[in-house]
Amino acid sequence: MRVQAVLEADLPGPRINRHLYGHFAEHLGRCVYGGFWVGEDSPVPNEGGIRLDVVDALRALDIPNLRWPGGCFADTYHWRDGVGPREDRPTMVNSHWGDVVEDNSFGTHEFMALCQLLGADPYVSANVGSGTVREAAEWIEYLTRADDSPMARLRRSHGRDEPWSVPFWGLGNEPWGCGGGMGSGAYAELARQFGTYSLDHGDNQLYRIAAGAADADYRWTEVLMQNLGRYLGAGAVTGHGKNTYQAISFHHYTIVGPTWENKGSATDFDVEEYYRTVAEAARIERIIAGHAAVMDAYDPGKEVGLVLDEWGTWFDVEPGTNPGFLFQQNTMRDALVAGVHFDAFHRHADRLVMANIAQTVNVLQAMLLTDGEELVLTPSYHVFAMNKGHHDAASLPLTLRGPAPTRRVGDEDLELFSASASTKDGRVLVSLTNLDAELPAEVELDVRGVEAGAPVGRLLTAEKLTDHNTAASTPVQVRDLEDVRFDGGTLRVTLPAHSFATVSFPTA
Ligand code: AHR
Repeated sequence: MRVQAVLEADLPGPRINRHLYGHFAEHLGRCVYGGFWVGEDSPVPNEGGIRLDVVDALRALDIPNLRWPGGCFADTYHWRDGVGPREDRPTMVNSHWGDVVEDNSFGTHEFMALCQLLGADPYVSANVGSGTVREAAEWIEYLTRADDSPMARLRRSHGRDEPWSVPFWGLGNEPWGCGGGMGSGAYAELARQFGTYSLDHGDNQLYRIAAGAADADYRWTEVLMQNLGRYLGAGAVTGHGKNTYQAISFHHYTIVGPTWENKGSATDFDVEEYYRTVAEAARIERIIAGHAAVMDAYDPGKEVGLVLDEWGTWFDVEPGTNPGFLFQQNTMRDALVAGVHFDAFHRHADRLVMANIAQTVNVLQAMLLTDGEELVLTPSYHVFAMNKGHHDAASLPLTLRGPAPTRRVGDEDLELFSASASTKDGRVLVSLTNLDAELPAEVELDVRGVEAGAPVGRLLTAEKLTDHNTAASTPVQVRDLEDVRFDGGTLRVTLPAHSFATVSFPTA
């Protein structure tokens, strides 16, 4: 297939917030326990119980933030159970995920230590569904207050003198479902209440994120926009004039079914199922645009952020694994799903300020899979790595000339090519995804407005779409993209079938 497009490299648009490359770690299956946390006595190399191979792999992605402790788990979590001497911490039942007993050995201090090792900003989700306003208010005081307040004193008694910085604060999770089964109006009231008492202590400025819609539930977003409220309660002097929450989230998973009980295998799928998956992934663009349009009507200045704090593929668990642990493998198909999402994120960088892949280790569309001492980098990991140059870069308009090649999938035409671009530090970075399962794509990109230097390309593909990495073999790897060159002002790239590539070049 042949694709022609124009890149206006001298027309920088909105900044691509690095937090669009955010992550998510829930107390779910082997994400926290076994994934991030092995405990100090483990044979797996660790620092204070946190596994170092995982830290190193994620540091290489420059992960900007990590959301914790859930997910559904967050609305069952009582933070006081997870502080103080580990041997004294009470246990609880993780009712959402496998009905297993949680021993709370990974709690607030362990999470903050993890964020510090990762160099990532913490995004803490408060318990709105089954917790109290007081509990949330005290947690943020415990985390961020410097003086001799009761919670600061409690933190010190647990060995941490200095407060931490906590920029991101979630007000519950999926309140329409696992987070309390509420309607939008009831939740909006609670979001205002919890937002009001989630205070900025000292220099710590919270970016409060109200829990939002499932998929395309634009009505939910509208109700939250109508209820932004004003921060006039406790601490009114410091907070006067602010909205009670600064952002609204939504979740969208790539799930193709046919039913919830049969979501298909992560590794054993045919070409039709592949196309249905990427068509579902591509829907993210319309969903972001839908939420953004509702927000524009109330907030044309785009002060309120849109946050997609859970996204990714959701297939059946790997055979023989606990159905409540959501452990799935990750193929070349997942990498292409990630590529399509990031292009949409870049195009909506004016409103979408954060996104969190679900989840970082061993759960759903993971970056990393661990098994004892083994660590595997998934195909999705490589897309995050190859796209790092987009972090905090200015988006650039990239427009197809004429319609993209399409394929009929259900009652829709799926575009088989996706791309986006940005500029930072005198370089342009272009991401290109060829979704065609069988055909290569000849791409001609007319680069306008700059003098472009020699291009460098990286390529991620595999012989088969079902290829995936294991400890024994890694067929999905990044390599140099040979077929890339400038022909006058036209960048010519050949992309193999089902591949993701990045091309970067200096500009003058
Ligand atoms: O990521 C798994 C679960 O999916 C989360 O706990 C929940 O928020 C969503 O339904």
